[in-house]
Amino acid sequence: MEDWSLETWTRWFSYSALLAEPPSVWHSTATQAALISKLLKKYGIRKGLILDAGCGIGRITIALAELGYDVLGIDISPKFVEKANERIARAGVEDKARCVVGDLRRVQEVVKDVRFDGIVSWYSSFGFYGDEIDKSILRGFAWVAKSDAVLLIDVENRDSVLKARNYQENFAWTMEFGDYVMIAESKYDPWSSMERSKVSVYQKDIKGLEKVAEMPLQFRLYSLHELAKLYKESGWEPVEAVGDWEGSPFKPLSPRIILVGKRY
Ligand SMILES: C[S@@+](CC[C@H](N)C(=O)[O-])C[C@H]1O[C@@H](n2cnc3c(N)ncnc32)[C@H](O)[C@@H]1O
Repeated sequence: MEDWSLETWTRWFSYSALLAEPPSVWHSTATQAALISKLLKKYGIRKGLILDAGCGIGRITIALAELGYDVLGIDISPKFVEKANERIARAGVEDKARCVVGDLRRVQEVVKDVRFDGIVSWYSSFGFYGDEIDKSILRGFAWVAKSDAVLLIDVENRDSVLKARNYQENFAWTMEFGDYVMIAESKYDPWSSMERSKVSVYQKDIKGLEKVAEMPLQFRLYSLHELAKLYKESGWEPVEAVGDWEGSPFKPLSPRIILVGKRY
């Protein structure tokens, strides 16, 4: 029986918190933060309070704080948040940045009376829950945003992902991080654009690989027009789409969808 409860997700993200980020992502953090800052400024947010929605270990939180923004990071994984706050202290930006544990599906309850100038959901932190819940997350973002706020969501572009897999429905992938290896069997459902995976986590030891966990993972792969429609239905006017972390204009097979929205 697949179980998509909060507990399952917390367990999944606690496991993934044990793992390091892929180096390619780390190496381009400054480029990614520069693009975020450029887009925020272009749409009028030169300073102010930014929500890093799904902050992980504070990669973007810290980079934006270093660029002068005040940043609150929220993440469902207590292990990620603990690491994020340690890294914030090490970077010396405690006066500009802080991360807290919280579920973005109830963002209004997490932040209560704070209102944001910008909301950033970066590096595939959006799409775990399917269209209806994703829409309610966007409505929650509109609720905690100031009236002229800007939203930036960065996810993989479904069309480029499917092309890279030669449009196969079933595929397997592995990822190795430090002492852990993840082996996944995934299936893409064209009716919902949900990718559902069974992920096994193995720990390396002297005898080989020992299985330490097995859990389901699901992800909604969005096309640009679907994400734009979700924005429009939840209080955000889509105003620009960028196709990669270098800031290229969006093209049908761009690797990423970085969709800029203005609150309406
Ligand atoms: C791929 S990571 C990206 C982390 C970070 N944005 C970055 O760029 O390094 C996705 C993050 O989304 C978080 N997340 C997923 N669902 C969440 C939810 N409902 N509430 C808060 N955080 C969530 C995960 O714990 C994870 O840290």
